[in-house]
Amino acid sequence: MDFTVTNSALDKSRSDCIICGIHQGQKLTSAAAILDQATGNSIQQLIDRGDHRGKIGETQWIHSPSGIPAQRILLLGMGKEPSPRGRELGKALAAAAAALQKSGSRNAVVVLSTLTSATAPDQMHHLVRRAVETIESTLYHYDVPSAEKKKRKPALKKITFAVTDRREMNEAKKAIAEGKAIADGVSLARTLGNLPGNICTPGYLATQARKIGRNEKGVTVRVLSEKEMEKLGMGALLSVARGSEQPAKLIIAHYSGAPKKEQPIVLVGKGVTFDSGGISLKPGGKMDEMKFDMCGAASVLGTLQTARDLKLPLNLIAIIPATENLPDGRATKPGDVVTSLSGQTIEILNTDAEGRLILCDALTYAERFKPAEIIDIATLTGACVVALGKHASGLLSNDDGLAGDLLQAGEESGDRTWRLPLWDEYQPQLDSNFADMGNIGGPEAGTITAACFLSRFTKKQRWAHIDIAGAAWNQGKDKGATGRPVSLLVQHLLNRVRTK
Ligand code: BES
Ligand code: MN
Ligand code: ZN
Repeated sequence: MDFTVTNSALDKSRSDCIICGIHQGQKLTSAAAILDQATGNSIQQLIDRGDHRGKIGETQWIHSPSGIPAQRILLLGMGKEPSPRGRELGKALAAAAAALQKSGSRNAVVVLSTLTSATAPDQMHHLVRRAVETIESTLYHYDVPSAEKKKRKPALKKITFAVTDRREMNEAKKAIAEGKAIADGVSLARTLGNLPGNICTPGYLATQARKIGRNEKGVTVRVLSEKEMEKLGMGALLSVARGSEQPAKLIIAHYSGAPKKEQPIVLVGKGVTFDSGGISLKPGGKMDEMKFDMCGAASVLGTLQTARDLKLPLNLIAIIPATENLPDGRATKPGDVVTSLSGQTIEILNTDAEGRLILCDALTYAERFKPAEIIDIATLTGACVVALGKHASGLLSNDDGLAGDLLQAGEESGDRTWRLPLWDEYQPQLDSNFADMGNIGGPEAGTITAACFLSRFTKKQRWAHIDIAGAAWNQGKDKGATGRPVSLLVQHLLNRVRTK
């Protein structure tokens, strides 16, 4: 998609579509009024008749408007003043993107001053960035391998943002670049998630990480083999890989955008490329969806790529423990006891609680980098889907400041999280008679006890855990990876840069 900026007159625009925002119960903005006058009051008439009320996300077409060369006008409800941000803004933009895609328009002009009442540069920046992200993600397409070699040709090719003065042009151009870099990161995460488990293996994830670092001075990628992990003593991670023919990998990617002495932010992503449950085998229904069990890893790679593209002035380390979880004669059995990299021993009571086993060794490994903070992202518990559904990811943290920052980044990006407690009272659920801890905490508070388990490996760190079990993919006819929480993570990084 081609995104550009213009400040030329709207009533002269020859575009296929002009997108014009309408605020509920407000007078037309001056740009909307110009369009209205040029088209014989076509907009005001629709509003007066009650055909368009300006409700958030409401869309209304005006086809072949008279008096202007543009082919269509799309009225877009922006809700009540003040102009929406966060989730609400996303809703409006998604509605416009969907209508635009359906219409067959090849290009469109977005009249920025009709979408926001605020003139502050950061408001405009945010709006343009979110518009780019939303349009790109609406047009996202996963190329299905098929006998019919149908090539999909999206009609929409070009979006132009109309600004009112020249000064705004630069700001809008910066916002377009930012939006594109984020959209590319989200797309990467979605495609990695959507790829089948027989292609997207641990080795494939390692190759993708290396690709992000190829010919980039600021990015270095290292991949540890099972042998190297064994030498280090990563008994928990390796216990999950035992049933698989695919060798496990520990991927470590450094992005250096700031001086060496600056402490890095570490992102750890769960990379189980297929989770059958292992010997504690899952039921067959929907088991295919467990190819998405590497979406945490995918989001970390997407975020890494975006940080690289935006040349963010900070240091970032991505750590991805990658493996399959399969049953086999050599697979780990319930009751087996393993020793983690931290030295703590674990009784594996359920081989399906494998995510925490690979994450705990990755989290201990992360300590050596003396991070400013560690955030892990994982499709960790079915309980999180029960608790929060798909609208919010679960957030658990040992640091109120970090948790607050992530909650806020979620609101700003529209990619939200919701905090659950990590109180000591839950810890005894992990007690074991045969090791320092068991790997499951019983039927109650499954998302919390999973995080309690991880907290035992991050005692010395500022740490947050994001459970994306509900958010990472859609089910049913829209089955597919969402790319979450790339936009949340990038927003968090942008906020860190801003407040440095
Ligand atoms: N990958 C699953 C969690 C999951 C399940 C994510 C369904 C999304 C949808 C994880 O490895 C798992 O199997 N967790 C178990 C933990 C239990 C055995 C304590 C679960 O949630 O059932
Ligand atoms: Mn599992
Ligand atoms: Zn899993």
